[in-house]
Amino acid sequence: MLIRKLRGWNMPERLVTPESVMLGRRAALAGVASIVAAVPAHAQWANLFGGAPARPEQPRKPLVASRNDRYVAGRAITEERQAITYNNFYEFGMSKSVYGAAQALVLDPWSVEIAGLVAKPQKIGLEDLLKRMPLEERIYRHRCVETWAMTVPWTGFPLAKLVEMAEPQPEAKYVVFTTLADAKTMPGLGQRFYPWPYTEGLTLAEARNELAFMAVGMYGKTLPPQNGAPLRLAVPWKYGFKSAKSIVKIEFSAKRPTTYWESLQDSEYGFWANVNPDVPHPRWSQATETLLGSDERVPTKMWNGYGEFVADMYKGMSNEKLFM
Ligand code: MTE
Repeated sequence: MLIRKLRGWNMPERLVTPESVMLGRRAALAGVASIVAAVPAHAQWANLFGGAPARPEQPRKPLVASRNDRYVAGRAITEERQAITYNNFYEFGMSKSVYGAAQALVLDPWSVEIAGLVAKPQKIGLEDLLKRMPLEERIYRHRCVETWAMTVPWTGFPLAKLVEMAEPQPEAKYVVFTTLADAKTMPGLGQRFYPWPYTEGLTLAEARNELAFMAVGMYGKTLPPQNGAPLRLAVPWKYGFKSAKSIVKIEFSAKRPTTYWESLQDSEYGFWANVNPDVPHPRWSQATETLLGSDERVPTKMWNGYGEFVADMYKGMSNEKLFM
Protein backbone atom coordinates (compact mmCIF):
# COMPACT_ATOMS: atom_id res chain seq x y z
CA MET A 1 0.00 0.00 0.00
CA LEU A 2 1.32 3.39 -0.97
CA ILE A 3 1.77 5.90 1.79
CA ARG A 4 2.72 9.23 0.32
CA LYS A 5 4.16 11.81 2.69
CA LEU A 6 2.89 15.23 1.72
CA ARG A 7 5.34 18.08 1.89
CA GLY A 8 4.41 21.73 2.12
CA TRP A 9 4.77 22.26 -1.60
CA ASN A 10 2.51 19.34 -2.38
CA MET A 11 -0.47 21.48 -3.27
CA PRO A 12 -3.79 19.92 -2.31
CA GLU A 13 -4.54 18.48 -5.73
CA ARG A 14 -8.30 18.93 -5.32
CA LEU A 15 -7.57 22.67 -5.29
CA VAL A 16 -5.13 22.91 -8.11
CA THR A 17 -5.45 20.00 -10.50
CA PRO A 18 -7.12 21.61 -13.45
CA GLU A 19 -9.49 18.86 -14.47
CA SER A 20 -10.85 18.01 -11.06
CA VAL A 21 -13.22 20.92 -10.76
CA MET A 22 -13.48 22.25 -14.24
CA LEU A 23 -15.26 19.28 -15.70
CA GLY A 24 -18.99 19.26 -15.30
CA ARG A 25 -20.66 16.45 -13.39
CA ARG A 26 -21.71 14.71 -16.55
CA ALA A 27 -18.22 14.75 -17.97
CA ALA A 28 -16.83 13.55 -14.67
CA LEU A 29 -19.27 10.63 -14.56
CA ALA A 30 -18.57 9.78 -18.18
CA GLY A 31 -14.90 9.97 -17.33
CA VAL A 32 -15.19 7.56 -14.42
CA ALA A 33 -17.15 5.18 -16.62
CA SER A 34 -14.51 5.31 -19.33
CA ILE A 35 -11.75 4.76 -16.79
CA VAL A 36 -13.53 1.73 -15.41
CA ALA A 37 -14.03 0.37 -18.91
CA ALA A 38 -10.55 1.06 -20.11
CA VAL A 39 -8.42 0.42 -17.04
CA PRO A 40 -9.60 -2.68 -15.29
CA ALA A 41 -6.26 -3.90 -13.96
CA HIS A 42 -5.36 -2.84 -10.45
CA ALA A 43 -1.82 -1.87 -11.42
CA GLN A 44 -3.06 0.44 -14.14
CA TRP A 45 -5.58 1.98 -11.78
CA ALA A 46 -2.77 2.67 -9.32
CA ASN A 47 -0.72 4.28 -12.08
CA LEU A 48 -3.58 6.50 -13.14
CA PHE A 49 -4.03 7.97 -9.71
CA GLY A 50 -0.39 7.96 -8.72
CA GLY A 51 0.87 4.64 -7.56
CA ALA A 52 4.34 3.60 -6.55
CA PRO A 53 7.04 3.44 -9.24
CA ALA A 54 5.87 0.70 -11.56
CA ARG A 55 9.18 0.11 -13.31
CA PRO A 56 12.87 0.76 -12.75
CA GLU A 57 13.96 4.21 -13.86
CA GLN A 58 15.22 4.37 -17.43
CA PRO A 59 18.95 5.17 -17.69
CA ARG A 60 19.77 8.73 -18.72
CA LYS A 61 22.78 9.54 -20.89
CA PRO A 62 25.15 12.36 -19.95
CA LEU A 63 24.83 15.44 -22.17
CA VAL A 64 27.71 17.85 -22.55
CA ALA A 65 26.77 21.41 -23.50
CA SER A 66 28.12 24.74 -22.37
CA ARG A 67 25.92 26.97 -20.26
CA ASN A 68 24.44 30.08 -21.82
CA ASP A 69 24.69 32.67 -19.04
CA ARG A 70 22.53 35.23 -20.80
CA TYR A 71 19.47 33.84 -19.01
CA VAL A 72 19.74 34.37 -15.28
CA ALA A 73 17.17 32.56 -13.16
CA GLY A 74 17.87 34.68 -10.08
CA ARG A 75 17.15 31.88 -7.65
CA ALA A 76 18.61 28.52 -6.66
CA ILE A 77 18.31 25.54 -8.94
CA THR A 78 15.68 23.09 -7.72
CA GLU A 79 17.10 19.91 -6.29
CA GLU A 80 17.03 17.40 -9.15
CA ARG A 81 15.09 14.70 -7.35
CA GLN A 82 12.28 17.18 -6.64
CA ALA A 83 12.08 18.25 -10.27
CA ILE A 84 11.93 14.70 -11.59
CA THR A 85 9.45 13.24 -9.10
CA TYR A 86 6.77 15.96 -8.98
CA ASN A 87 5.27 16.15 -12.44
CA ASN A 88 2.28 16.88 -14.56
CA PHE A 89 1.98 14.34 -17.34
CA TYR A 90 -1.68 13.47 -17.72
CA GLU A 91 -1.02 10.73 -20.25
CA PHE A 92 0.40 8.76 -17.32
CA GLY A 93 -2.14 9.76 -14.71
CA MET A 94 -3.63 12.66 -12.81
CA SER A 95 -1.33 12.51 -9.82
CA LYS A 96 1.97 14.31 -9.44
CA SER A 97 3.62 10.92 -8.83
CA VAL A 98 3.60 9.60 -12.36
CA TYR A 99 7.32 9.04 -12.62
CA GLY A 100 7.00 5.30 -12.07
CA ALA A 101 4.30 4.86 -14.68
CA ALA A 102 6.16 7.12 -17.12
CA GLN A 103 9.10 4.71 -17.30
CA ALA A 104 6.95 2.77 -19.78
CA LEU A 105 7.55 5.48 -22.40
CA VAL A 106 9.45 3.98 -25.35
CA LEU A 107 12.10 6.55 -26.26
CA ASP A 108 14.02 4.80 -28.99
CA PRO A 109 13.43 5.09 -31.90
CA TRP A 110 11.92 8.59 -31.82
CA SER A 111 11.19 10.84 -34.73
CA VAL A 112 9.52 14.20 -35.14
CA GLU A 113 7.29 15.12 -38.05
CA ILE A 114 7.73 18.64 -39.37
CA ALA A 115 4.54 19.38 -41.22
CA GLY A 116 2.14 21.98 -42.59
CA LEU A 117 3.15 25.24 -44.24
CA VAL A 118 6.85 24.57 -44.64
CA ALA A 119 9.22 24.30 -47.58
CA LYS A 120 10.33 20.81 -46.58
CA PRO A 121 7.79 18.66 -44.76
CA GLN A 122 9.77 15.80 -43.28
CA LYS A 123 9.97 13.18 -40.62
CA ILE A 124 13.31 13.38 -38.92
CA GLY A 125 14.87 10.99 -36.43
CA LEU A 126 15.82 12.62 -33.16
CA GLU A 127 19.52 11.81 -33.58
CA ASP A 128 19.58 13.38 -37.04
CA LEU A 129 17.76 16.43 -35.74
CA LEU A 130 20.25 16.85 -32.93
CA LYS A 131 23.17 16.68 -35.37
CA ARG A 132 21.77 19.84 -36.94
CA MET A 133 20.95 21.74 -33.76
CA PRO A 134 23.42 23.60 -31.51
CA LEU A 135 23.11 22.23 -27.96
CA GLU A 136 23.48 24.52 -24.95
CA GLU A 137 22.40 24.61 -21.32
CA ARG A 138 20.03 27.25 -19.94
CA ILE A 139 18.73 27.68 -16.43
CA TYR A 140 15.08 28.65 -16.60
CA ARG A 141 12.35 29.34 -14.11
CA HIS A 142 9.23 27.22 -14.61
CA ARG A 143 5.87 28.40 -13.24
CA CYS A 144 2.93 26.01 -13.32
CA VAL A 145 -0.55 27.52 -13.53
CA GLU A 146 -1.27 25.58 -10.34
CA THR A 147 1.18 27.92 -8.47
CA TRP A 148 4.12 25.59 -7.94
CA ALA A 149 7.42 26.53 -9.51
CA MET A 150 10.92 25.19 -10.07
CA THR A 151 14.24 26.26 -11.55
CA VAL A 152 15.83 23.83 -13.96
CA PRO A 153 19.03 23.58 -16.01
CA TRP A 154 17.69 22.43 -19.38
CA THR A 155 19.91 21.19 -22.20
CA GLY A 156 18.56 21.77 -25.67
CA PHE A 157 18.49 24.12 -28.61
CA PRO A 158 16.63 27.30 -29.54
CA LEU A 159 13.28 26.59 -31.16
CA ALA A 160 14.17 29.38 -33.61
CA LYS A 161 16.82 27.06 -35.10
CA LEU A 162 14.24 24.41 -35.83
CA VAL A 163 11.91 27.01 -37.34
CA GLU A 164 14.78 28.13 -39.57
CA MET A 165 15.43 24.54 -40.65
CA ALA A 166 11.74 24.01 -41.44
CA GLU A 167 11.55 27.10 -43.67
CA PRO A 168 7.95 28.16 -42.94
CA GLN A 169 5.93 29.56 -45.81
CA PRO A 170 4.79 33.22 -45.59
CA GLU A 171 1.22 32.17 -44.66
CA ALA A 172 2.41 30.29 -41.57
CA LYS A 173 1.45 32.18 -38.40
CA TYR A 174 1.36 29.48 -35.71
CA VAL A 175 3.40 26.50 -34.62
CA VAL A 176 1.44 23.54 -33.25
CA PHE A 177 3.06 20.89 -31.07
CA THR A 178 1.53 17.43 -30.87
CA THR A 179 2.75 15.00 -28.28
CA LEU A 180 2.80 11.21 -28.16
CA ALA A 181 -0.49 9.42 -27.55
CA ASP A 182 0.27 5.74 -27.12
CA ALA A 183 -2.60 3.87 -25.49
CA LYS A 184 -0.38 0.83 -24.90
CA THR A 185 1.95 2.64 -22.54
CA MET A 186 -0.08 5.64 -21.35
CA PRO A 187 -2.90 4.74 -18.95
CA GLY A 188 -4.22 8.30 -18.95
CA LEU A 189 -5.45 7.84 -22.51
CA GLY A 190 -8.19 5.64 -21.07
CA GLN A 191 -9.84 8.85 -19.87
CA ARG A 192 -11.64 9.48 -23.09
CA PHE A 193 -13.13 12.83 -22.10
CA TYR A 194 -9.66 14.34 -22.45
CA PRO A 195 -8.90 15.55 -25.96
CA TRP A 196 -5.88 13.38 -26.71
CA PRO A 197 -3.32 13.88 -28.03
CA TYR A 198 -2.02 16.72 -25.85
CA THR A 199 -1.35 19.66 -28.13
CA GLU A 200 0.01 23.13 -27.61
CA GLY A 201 0.73 26.11 -29.81
CA LEU A 202 2.71 29.29 -30.15
CA THR A 203 2.61 32.11 -32.62
CA LEU A 204 5.45 32.03 -35.11
CA ALA A 205 6.84 35.16 -33.47
CA GLU A 206 6.85 33.41 -30.09
CA ALA A 207 8.49 30.34 -31.60
CA ARG A 208 11.23 32.56 -33.01
CA ASN A 209 11.71 34.40 -29.72
CA GLU A 210 15.16 33.71 -28.31
CA LEU A 211 13.74 32.26 -25.08
CA ALA A 212 11.68 29.51 -26.74
CA PHE A 213 13.73 26.38 -26.16
CA MET A 214 13.47 22.73 -27.14
CA ALA A 215 14.83 20.66 -24.28
CA VAL A 216 16.35 17.20 -24.68
CA GLY A 217 17.99 17.10 -21.27
CA MET A 218 18.01 18.42 -17.74
CA TYR A 219 20.65 18.44 -15.02
CA GLY A 220 23.31 17.45 -17.57
CA LYS A 221 21.59 14.24 -18.69
CA THR A 222 18.91 13.27 -21.18
CA LEU A 223 15.38 14.01 -20.00
CA PRO A 224 13.69 11.41 -17.86
CA PRO A 225 10.41 10.15 -19.36
CA GLN A 226 8.29 11.90 -16.74
CA ASN A 227 9.69 15.31 -17.69
CA GLY A 228 8.89 14.88 -21.37
CA ALA A 229 11.66 12.79 -22.90
CA PRO A 230 13.04 12.81 -25.40
CA LEU A 231 11.98 16.28 -26.60
CA ARG A 232 9.90 18.95 -24.90
CA LEU A 233 9.24 22.62 -25.10
CA ALA A 234 10.39 25.15 -22.48
CA VAL A 235 8.72 28.57 -22.78
CA PRO A 236 9.44 30.04 -19.36
CA TRP A 237 7.40 33.24 -19.62
CA LYS A 238 4.24 31.16 -19.97
CA TYR A 239 2.43 28.88 -17.56
CA GLY A 240 3.90 25.39 -17.57
CA PHE A 241 1.06 23.75 -19.49
CA LYS A 242 2.33 25.47 -22.64
CA SER A 243 5.56 23.43 -22.40
CA ALA A 244 4.43 20.32 -24.26
CA LYS A 245 6.24 17.08 -23.47
CA SER A 246 7.33 14.14 -25.62
CA ILE A 247 6.71 15.95 -28.89
CA VAL A 248 6.16 13.91 -32.06
CA LYS A 249 4.90 16.55 -34.48
CA ILE A 250 5.58 20.23 -35.11
CA GLU A 251 3.17 21.75 -37.58
CA PHE A 252 3.17 25.20 -39.11
CA SER A 253 -0.31 26.60 -39.62
CA ALA A 254 -2.15 29.71 -40.76
CA LYS A 255 -4.86 29.03 -38.18
CA ARG A 256 -4.58 29.43 -34.44
CA PRO A 257 -4.97 25.99 -32.88
CA THR A 258 -7.36 25.14 -30.07
CA THR A 259 -5.01 23.60 -27.57
CA TYR A 260 -5.60 20.73 -25.14
CA TRP A 261 -6.47 22.67 -22.00
CA GLU A 262 -8.22 25.39 -23.96
CA SER A 263 -10.57 22.87 -25.52
CA LEU A 264 -11.35 21.45 -22.07
CA GLN A 265 -12.01 24.80 -20.39
CA ASP A 266 -11.28 27.95 -22.34
CA SER A 267 -12.44 30.24 -19.53
CA GLU A 268 -9.54 28.99 -17.40
CA TYR A 269 -6.77 27.94 -19.77
CA GLY A 270 -6.25 30.14 -22.77
CA PHE A 271 -4.01 30.11 -25.79
CA TRP A 272 -1.62 32.77 -24.51
CA ALA A 273 -1.12 31.79 -20.85
CA ASN A 274 1.56 34.39 -20.15
CA VAL A 275 2.48 34.57 -16.47
CA ASN A 276 0.97 37.57 -14.69
CA PRO A 277 0.66 37.76 -10.89
CA ASP A 278 -2.04 40.44 -11.18
CA VAL A 279 -4.47 38.35 -13.20
CA PRO A 280 -5.93 35.61 -11.00
CA HIS A 281 -7.00 32.27 -12.35
CA PRO A 282 -10.81 32.14 -11.97
CA ARG A 283 -10.38 29.84 -8.98
CA TRP A 284 -7.16 30.98 -7.30
CA SER A 285 -4.69 33.84 -7.05
CA GLN A 286 -1.59 33.87 -9.24
CA ALA A 287 0.20 36.42 -7.01
CA THR A 288 2.54 33.93 -5.34
CA GLU A 289 4.09 30.54 -5.93
CA THR A 290 5.66 27.70 -3.95
CA LEU A 291 9.10 26.52 -5.02
CA LEU A 292 9.43 22.74 -5.12
CA GLY A 293 11.32 21.66 -2.03
CA SER A 294 10.24 24.61 0.09
CA ASP A 295 7.17 25.50 2.13
CA GLU A 296 7.53 29.21 1.55
CA ARG A 297 5.38 31.19 -0.86
CA VAL A 298 7.28 33.76 -2.92
CA PRO A 299 5.93 36.51 -5.18
CA THR A 300 5.34 35.57 -8.81
CA LYS A 301 6.98 37.87 -11.36
CA MET A 302 5.35 39.43 -14.38
CA TRP A 303 6.22 37.33 -17.47
CA ASN A 304 7.79 35.01 -14.87
CA GLY A 305 10.70 37.44 -14.79
CA TYR A 306 11.36 37.40 -18.56
CA GLY A 307 9.71 40.67 -19.62
CA GLU A 308 12.86 42.10 -21.17
CA PHE A 309 12.85 39.29 -23.74
CA VAL A 310 9.14 38.90 -24.46
CA ALA A 311 6.97 41.89 -23.48
CA ASP A 312 7.47 43.65 -26.82
CA MET A 313 5.81 40.79 -28.69
CA TYR A 314 2.49 41.62 -27.08
CA LYS A 315 2.35 45.38 -27.62
CA GLY A 316 -1.01 46.52 -28.99
CA MET A 317 -2.70 43.20 -28.19
CA SER A 318 -4.95 44.49 -25.41
CA ASN A 319 -7.97 42.74 -26.96
CA GLU A 320 -6.41 39.35 -26.36
CA LYS A 321 -6.63 37.42 -23.09
CA LEU A 322 -2.87 37.33 -22.79
CA PHE A 323 -2.70 36.22 -19.18
CA MET A 324 -4.90 33.14 -18.92
N1 MTE B 1 2.79 17.74 -21.81
C1 MTE B 1 2.06 16.63 -21.98
N2 MTE B 1 2.22 15.90 -23.09
N3 MTE B 1 1.17 16.21 -21.04
C2 MTE B 1 0.95 16.92 -19.90
O1 MTE B 1 0.12 16.52 -19.06
N4 MTE B 1 1.53 18.90 -18.57
C3 MTE B 1 1.96 20.28 -18.67
C4 MTE B 1 3.34 20.42 -19.34
N5 MTE B 1 3.42 19.58 -20.50
C5 MTE B 1 1.70 18.11 -19.70
C6 MTE B 1 2.65 18.47 -20.68
C7 MTE B 1 1.98 20.96 -17.39
S1 MTE B 1 0.46 21.35 -16.73
C8 MTE B 1 3.13 21.33 -16.77
S2 MTE B 1 3.13 22.33 -15.39
C9 MTE B 1 4.43 20.86 -17.25
O2 MTE B 1 4.33 20.01 -18.39
C10 MTE B 1 5.09 20.09 -16.12
O3 MTE B 1 6.41 19.74 -16.48
P1 MTE B 1 7.29 18.90 -15.47
O4 MTE B 1 6.52 17.69 -15.08
O5 MTE B 1 8.55 18.59 -16.20
O6 MTE B 1 7.53 19.77 -14.27
